[in-house]
Formats: sequence, structure tokens, C-alpha cells
Amino acid sequence: MVQSDYDALIDLFRVSGLEPRSKGRDRRTAIARQLRVRGNVYLGAFDGDQLVGAVLGTHDTRKGWINRLAVHPDYRRRGVASRLVRAAERGLREQGMRMFAALIEPGNEASEAVFRALGYDVLPILYARKKAYPEI
Ligand SMILES: CC(C)(COP(=O)(O)OP(=O)(O)OC[C@H]1O[C@@H](n2cnc3c(N)ncnc32)[C@H](O)[C@@H]1OP(=O)(O)O)[C@@H](O)C(=O)NCCC(=O)NCCS
Repeated sequence: MVQSDYDALIDLFRVSGLEPRSKGRDRRTAIARQLRVRGNVYLGAFDGDQLVGAVLGTHDTRKGWINRLAVHPDYRRRGVASRLVRAAERGLREQGMRMFAALIEPGNEASEAVFRALGYDVLPILYARKKAYPEI
């Protein structure tokens, strides 16, 4: 994706039920900065000009992270998410990553099913986090 996809990306997050952190890490300037980071694999799935799916692949030098996977409701169950994740893994593998991970909210059966189908183990795990400010 490129910066001009920003508004469509935020709309896609909204319609997919992923509340954008528009005052935090999803704000326009934050996404612009993330798009410039070498190593980030921010991919969109397009139907013509319309952004219908997205994934934000990042890595921390130890493992690749699959963030904010979203597919427009009208385009689900057509393999779009699976293709996006595989493509993000490829981009991250090119940078030496050999392990991939995603955080899934409890009860998100569709997401869990996608990752299981792609060969991910789904572990019950506690997630500790700390925010510099609430909207981040
Ligand atoms: C999760 C999400 C990205 C899946 O997108 P998708 O493009 O429909 O997924 P795919 O078509 O690639 O699904 C691949 C496989 O995963 C499984 N799967 C996907 N959605 C499923 C569902 N709702 N219920 C059960 N299994 C599901 C199926 O095995 C599917 O293969 P099949 O359609 O041949 O049976 C989409 O539902 C979405 O955007 N949800 C809201 C946002 C979200 O929760 N994102 C994840 C954050 S971690």
C-alpha cells in the first residue's frame, strides 16, 4: 500500500470491525511513517481501485508479526485473507524471519480459523501491554 490508500484503509478497518486508533498508531502521520520503515510489509488486496483487504506485516528482528488483517465483508470466504497472510510471510521471510505470529482476540473464530488453516498453532496465552497514552 501507499499513503494515498490511507483513507480507504481506515474505512476498511471500520467496516471490518477493527476500530482504527485514529489518534494513535493508525493516525495518518503514524501510518505514513510506518510505510517508510524498511522491512514493513503493508499489503492491500484490490478489486480494481477498491481496497478490499489489508494486512500490516512487521518484524522486530526476531519474528514477523501479522497485524490488522482485514477483509471487506462483501469479499470474505474467497481466500483473500489467506493470500494476504501468505504474501506478508513471503515479504518477511525475505528479510530472514522464520517465525510468524498474530494476536487474536478471544472469540474471533474467523481469524482463528484463518490462521489455523495456514498452519499456525493457536496458543492460550496472556498478553501484557502498557500504553504511553490511552488512544495509542
Ligand atoms: C478474519 C478475516 C480477515 C478472514 O478473511 P477471509 O478473506 O474471509 O478469509 P479466507 O477466505 O482467506 O478464509 C480462509 C479459511 O479460513 C476459515 N474461515 C474464514 N472465515 C471463517 C469463518 N467466518 N468461520 C469459520 N471459518 C472461517 C475457512 O477455513 C476458510 O477457508 P474456506 O472458506 O475455504 O472454508 C475476515 O473475516 C475479517 O476481516 N474479519 C474482521 C477483522 C478481523 O477480525 N481481523 C483479524 C484480526 S486478528
